[in-house]
Amino acid sequence: MKAIILEGFGEVDQLSFTEIPTPELTAGQVLIRSMAISINPVDVKTRAGSGIASKFKHTDPIILGWDVAGIVEETNSSLFKKGDEVFGMVHFPGQGKAYAGYIAAPDSHLALKPANVSFPQAAATTLAALTAWQAFHKHGRIKPGDKVLVHAASGGVGHFAVQLAKASGAYVIGTSSAENKDFVLSLGADEHFDYRSGNFAEHYHDIDIILDTVGGDYVSRSIPVLKKNGFLVSIPGRISEADQKKALETGVTVANILVHSNGDDMKQLADLLESGKLKPHISKVFAFEDMASAHLQLESHRTKGKIVLTF
Ligand SMILES: NC(=O)c1ccc[n+]([C@@H]2O[C@H](COP(=O)([O-])OP(=O)(O)OC[C@H]3O[C@@H](n4cnc5c(N)ncnc54)[C@H](OP(=O)(O)O)[C@@H]3O)[C@@H](O)[C@H]2O)c1
Repeated sequence: MKAIILEGFGEVDQLSFTEIPTPELTAGQVLIRSMAISINPVDVKTRAGSGIASKFKHTDPIILGWDVAGIVEETNSSLFKKGDEVFGMVHFPGQGKAYAGYIAAPDSHLALKPANVSFPQAAATTLAALTAWQAFHKHGRIKPGDKVLVHAASGGVGHFAVQLAKASGAYVIGTSSAENKDFVLSLGADEHFDYRSGNFAEHYHDIDIILDTVGGDYVSRSIPVLKKNGFLVSIPGRISEADQKKALETGVTVANILVHSNGDDMKQLADLLESGKLKPHISKVFAFEDMASAHLQLESHRTKGKIVLTF
């Protein structure tokens, strides 16, 4: 089968096309013929040697990728049969090996793709959407009427977060540049804030949940914006001890989370996709062969919604 292996951690020239044997299945796995995959900033970071590169340190060959939508070709699972159309985020955080024509995936990481959703749309609604889902429903405990602030609301995670928060009955404020204001509002956000026009911390207060997708000083600047007992979920990296202390003193909770593969959560996303309450925005579709360009697009930090690669 065709696959992209990583010759070594570094620039996009380390992504190398090759032919390798189709993976063997173990118990509870299905073999997916990939129709579309999507990529995320973690692909780019891991390629460069950070992200979750430590998971691959003793692996040869290294195959990146976690987000897939495709057709079950073989099955060692009682949950899915040959011919089923499935999607999911496979083996994250671990070795998903989705940069390949066929992927061996645990059935517990997958859901059936709704018939009214295309393979590219399904592939787009995986890691980024699961992150937003798990942030709000497993960590943030979102409820109707909550005031939610989503940073980078035009990005991969953010554009799903706005829709999921609205679907939960929240009041949503989304930040992005002015260029993406109409896009963020079109996702259902009640308000938009242009982060280049001023400091969000001077405009907002009494927020119930903040989703920080930016990192850096965003945790520190966001803490005073939360209401007492409010909750900040940060996804880009660690929360410093100073920020944890500041949160404790302010009476709010801050947590750094890492998304995990979960077929039950995928099923929730599948239902929302099927009902039209959740819609991925795919700003660009690349051919699988054009993986280097797809990585460079994500490295720009300006991607609107998701990018997808098809086979
Ligand atoms: N912990 C986890 O499990 C987890 C899971 C998923 C992602 N992540 C991390 O979360 C981060 C975001 O991921 P992503 O996929 O959403 O990234 P992304 O799609 O690449 O985000 C791009 C978007 O960010 C916006 N943006 C950039 N700087 C901004 C700022 N200062 N304020 C508001 N918006 C800003 C851009 O909008 P404009 O062009 O309008 O500026 C663009 O639309 C990455 O660091 C990723 O590695 C972590």
